[in-house]
Amino acid sequence: MASEFKRTLVTAALPYANGPIHLGHLAGCYLPSDIYVRFKRLKGDEVAFVCGSDEHGMAITMKARKEGVTPREIVDRYHVVMRDALADFGIAFDHYSRTSSDRHKQVASEFFKTLYDKGVFEARQTDQYFDPEAQQFLADRYITGTCPRCSHDAAYGDQCEKCGATLNPTDLINPRSTLSGATPVLKPTTNWFLPLDKLSDDLRRYITSHPEWKPNVYGQTLSWLDAGDGLQPRSMTRDLDWGVPVPVEGADGKVLYVWFDAPLGYITATQELMGDQWETWWKDPSTRLVHFIGKDNIVFHCVIFPAILMQHGGYILPDQVPANEFLNLEGQKLSTSRNWAVWLHEYLADFPGQQDVLRYVLTATMPETKDNDFTWADFQQRNNSELVAVLGNLVNRVMVLNHKFCGGTVPAAGVLPQDREALGAVAAQSALIGEALEAFKFREALGHAMDLARVGNKYLADEAPWQVVKTDPDRAAAILGVATQLVAALATAFEAFMPFTADRIRTMLGGAPALTWADLATAGPWIPVGTALGEASLLFQKIEDEQVAAQRAKLEAAAAANQPAPMEPEQPALTPLAPEITYDQFAPLDLRVALVLEAERVPKADRLLKLTLDTGLDRRTVLSGIAEHFAPEEVVGRRVILLANLAPRAMRGIESQGMILMADNPETGKLAFVQPDSDLPVGATVR
Ligand code: 2FM
Ligand code: ZN
Repeated sequence: MASEFKRTLVTAALPYANGPIHLGHLAGCYLPSDIYVRFKRLKGDEVAFVCGSDEHGMAITMKARKEGVTPREIVDRYHVVMRDALADFGIAFDHYSRTSSDRHKQVASEFFKTLYDKGVFEARQTDQYFDPEAQQFLADRYITGTCPRCSHDAAYGDQCEKCGATLNPTDLINPRSTLSGATPVLKPTTNWFLPLDKLSDDLRRYITSHPEWKPNVYGQTLSWLDAGDGLQPRSMTRDLDWGVPVPVEGADGKVLYVWFDAPLGYITATQELMGDQWETWWKDPSTRLVHFIGKDNIVFHCVIFPAILMQHGGYILPDQVPANEFLNLEGQKLSTSRNWAVWLHEYLADFPGQQDVLRYVLTATMPETKDNDFTWADFQQRNNSELVAVLGNLVNRVMVLNHKFCGGTVPAAGVLPQDREALGAVAAQSALIGEALEAFKFREALGHAMDLARVGNKYLADEAPWQVVKTDPDRAAAILGVATQLVAALATAFEAFMPFTADRIRTMLGGAPALTWADLATAGPWIPVGTALGEASLLFQKIEDEQVAAQRAKLEAAAAANQPAPMEPEQPALTPLAPEITYDQFAPLDLRVALVLEAERVPKADRLLKLTLDTGLDRRTVLSGIAEHFAPEEVVGRRVILLANLAPRAMRGIESQGMILMADNPETGKLAFVQPDSDLPVGATVR
């Protein structure tokens, strides 16, 4: 399959620079691509590995708006955060680029211009919502209104998050601009469409020439082609002010569609890495292009990007697109907005020096063919019963026994049948590992590596050099010679998966030289006899129940608080701190838990609900300005915090006897209840 190729360009999806990296990113594409590339390097294949930050598109502008800062500030911040965390985790890109650079602008502009000049695009005029106050066209996400299906009053222009309906902005009842609150007006605008419909025969030929693609990738791609009315033209430009400006006349205020420019970031990165040589990596048919991505990126890499490359001409096309499915976390979908995630930089801080434990567990549970679940219990179990008990235990026993019985130098390996058999497992297992990795079967490959460690443990247990030494010290040394060779080979067998561990094993082995993959196909030796061994140290530490409990608690607490992602600085969207008060000014407030017994709308007052509350002391009426956020039936039965000694006040002819506390959710701009702890009785005071 790959034999006609001379070199491989491996790319990993450019992550949006709008938040830190989490485990889902790692399991989806960064870890498998890194393992693959490290393996290729061990084989001595010519390979280049590029990635970078995806710094355009709505992911960035929405985040910037939410924080009240510029998109530039967002991408500058997260570009560094992501780049550094990935490097610390051992993801060994040859180059990590970014799409807001001048060079990328040139690359993307040249591509667009070429397609434009060739007459590939269809200019189409459509009516788009325009915000007359903000004086700009509105992306779908910047329009809210009432969902035509479920009447949810905060549906977006592309989707209702309450009922899940897919919407067009014009479907919304009562549309509003989230930029200004104004009612948007429809205004004609011209954009340039890639006529995927006309390209579908070429695309079909291309895709069906790759039946070797993973079934999830091949199937999803074909289902796009086979969809009801086939591929549809897709706009490659947007009316936005953040992105690569559309490089043609009459396109003021328009930028390239993020999915036009982002994959071209792979080319930009290659240019930055290779200088003059870059064209070999993109234009020579003996280069193999491999894109590692998550499943939500399949259509862009298997349909749209190839279509762009084909229309440009002169470029190779993706030869493999090993997309993974999604990783869930403790049984739930990972979610940045709900903060249901394990953040890489936090893992690195909580488990210093233990990158490889996470690399191991994520590889062992990689969602290669279907979604998979990461749990802290599994993390602990795999660490304790596989890394510590199998690999760590073998290496440690071999080191300690060598120091004890062989003076700390590598003895000659025995030549009995069982010795040869154990050593022969290196070639056999490494062949299996290699085959699996070439087929992007990372879990299977890791299993074969672990099996080699099991061979070592079984050999040691069967030969029991600690017994033999009592009667036959030479044989004991020969046994340890075999076991030491196995350990040396294991460093390389595991290297692509756990590079930090491979280095540590080599250091323990007295600075043993790094091997190539081909070395593992031989009968050894993999470390010269007589090498003086270094000190034994434990490769892996047992992970205790408390550590796991702490991680789970952290996850639950973050999700419960629905905090924004960590490492995000103070949010300017938050209300600034109010002027200082003294305790004496606070103390007179009588705050207490109350129960909402009844709730009804107040005629002619859109905002007010009339609540009947049980305060523990009495039953009273309170008017609350929450009717636009909550229906009466959503409020009855809730326990709330009441400011109970507020002077009564009449509104719409009804006397309100107090006020209930509400919180402003800065993320959604909505009101939320302040919920007392569930076992607090009605009447409990708050101070
Ligand atoms: O889904 C994402 O995170 C995108 N930023 C991936 C882009 S991949 C490539 F096209 F750059
Ligand atoms: Zn809805």
